[in-house]
Amino acid sequence: MAVDLLLGLQWGDEGKGKIVDVLTKNYDIIARFQGGPNAGHTLEFDGIKHVLHTIPSGIFHKNAINIVGNGVVIDPVIFKKELEALEQFKIDIKSKLLISRKAHLILPTHRLLDAASETSKGKAKIGSTLKGIGPTYMDKTGRNGMRIGDLEMSDWKEKYRALADKHEAMIDYYNVDIEYDLAELENEFFKSVEALKKLTFIDSEEYLFQAQRSGKKILAEGAQGSLLDIDFGTYPFVTSSNTTAAGACTGLGVAPNQIGEVKGIFKAYTTRVGSGPFPTELFDEDGETMGRVGNEFGATTGRPRRCGWLDIVALKYAVQVNGVTELMMMKADVLSGFETIKICTAYNYKGEKITHLPYNIEAENVTPIYSEMKGWKEDLTKMSKADELPKELAAYIEFLEKELEVPIKIVSVGPDRTQTILR
Ligand code: GDP
Ligand code: IMO
Ligand code: MG
Repeated sequence: MAVDLLLGLQWGDEGKGKIVDVLTKNYDIIARFQGGPNAGHTLEFDGIKHVLHTIPSGIFHKNAINIVGNGVVIDPVIFKKELEALEQFKIDIKSKLLISRKAHLILPTHRLLDAASETSKGKAKIGSTLKGIGPTYMDKTGRNGMRIGDLEMSDWKEKYRALADKHEAMIDYYNVDIEYDLAELENEFFKSVEALKKLTFIDSEEYLFQAQRSGKKILAEGAQGSLLDIDFGTYPFVTSSNTTAAGACTGLGVAPNQIGEVKGIFKAYTTRVGSGPFPTELFDEDGETMGRVGNEFGATTGRPRRCGWLDIVALKYAVQVNGVTELMMMKADVLSGFETIKICTAYNYKGEKITHLPYNIEAENVTPIYSEMKGWKEDLTKMSKADELPKELAAYIEFLEKELEVPIKIVSVGPDRTQTILR
């Protein structure tokens, strides 16, 4: 059975958590393939709102197995907190949540290094979530990292010490003013590791191979978005993993020829949190309205998200890089009430009109060129069928499908599981 992918096509926070939760009933296994606690995936159902960071978004479904893949980086401290928040739901964590032995560990000193690096950059900072993501992936590719499987070895604490000592020297090198009490951080870390060690560790690539063989349906859940991809995003203002489709192959050990549908998810407008270029960003009342109505605050850091119109140039690029086969459009309800909807269909790039994403998309090189469509006034949040949608929204959807050459299969009209329209 092929493995389907679900990934964000913008700068993250498209609504992946909600849609994975909606789709889980069709799958046996949900597997996260990259990122770590920089992610914040929100699910709402039965009047409960839940934010997951490392745990896959299928965890609330009784029959689904949830796997944290080898491409993910895990902070035991945050993981333990996530588990505690799930206690009230009486989930059989030991059998429903499986962790790859090859997933890397985020140490307290990785978080400190993240802070030191960001502080040293001053105005040029990435706007990292400060969860230690960059330094942990650096240790992974530098072949210095610690993995979940190391926790099963008797010498893991020595390994830990050597790496943490090295990190302390590196923090000193940055020569910036960050205050910390490592003994306290380590105390919390070691306690959390003990909690983590009670979970089930697996050789996830083998598990997934056998699951595919026996016909199990698998959905790979991405974190962040394509424009934050370490290779294809707006470097250096990106995260440190491959958030695009290829990342699912390396982050789970799934062969490329085993990938089935690639489900690309985007908001009906655009948001970004943290630094970096954003051609369609709005600094006016429209942007303020999107942020307020869309409640655009980071699920992990609480920071306000920057808002702007939909950018088809960037979206097309993401569809292309991922080989998206079906689209899902989120937060259409947030655009209700705008007289006019603007869509960026081309860029003015150094005086020339272009329709592809160039190397530099900073404001000094790129100005968006917009098409305009009539907006709609209706409240969408109670609608449940595609034929109920206002004709202006139907026209917007049709326009996007034509531009992107991929069908939009889901239109989301509110944060709740039930506010989901299938087309
Ligand atoms: P993720 O990181 O891609 O899982 O997305 P986040 O959870 O960070 O951010 C998406 C936010 O939008 C969350 O607060 C969701 O509850 C909310 N949301 C998801 N879909 C919709 C929608 O269709 N309409 C509205 N108004 N909110 C939505
Ligand atoms: P989900 O999965 C939105 C952004 C940060 C920063 C940059 C690098 O919820 O969509 P990092 O902590 O990875 O070093 O930060 O990436 N970022 C996200 N933005 N959604 C996310 O995840 C993000 N994860 C990281 O704001 O600009
Ligand atoms: Mg998020």
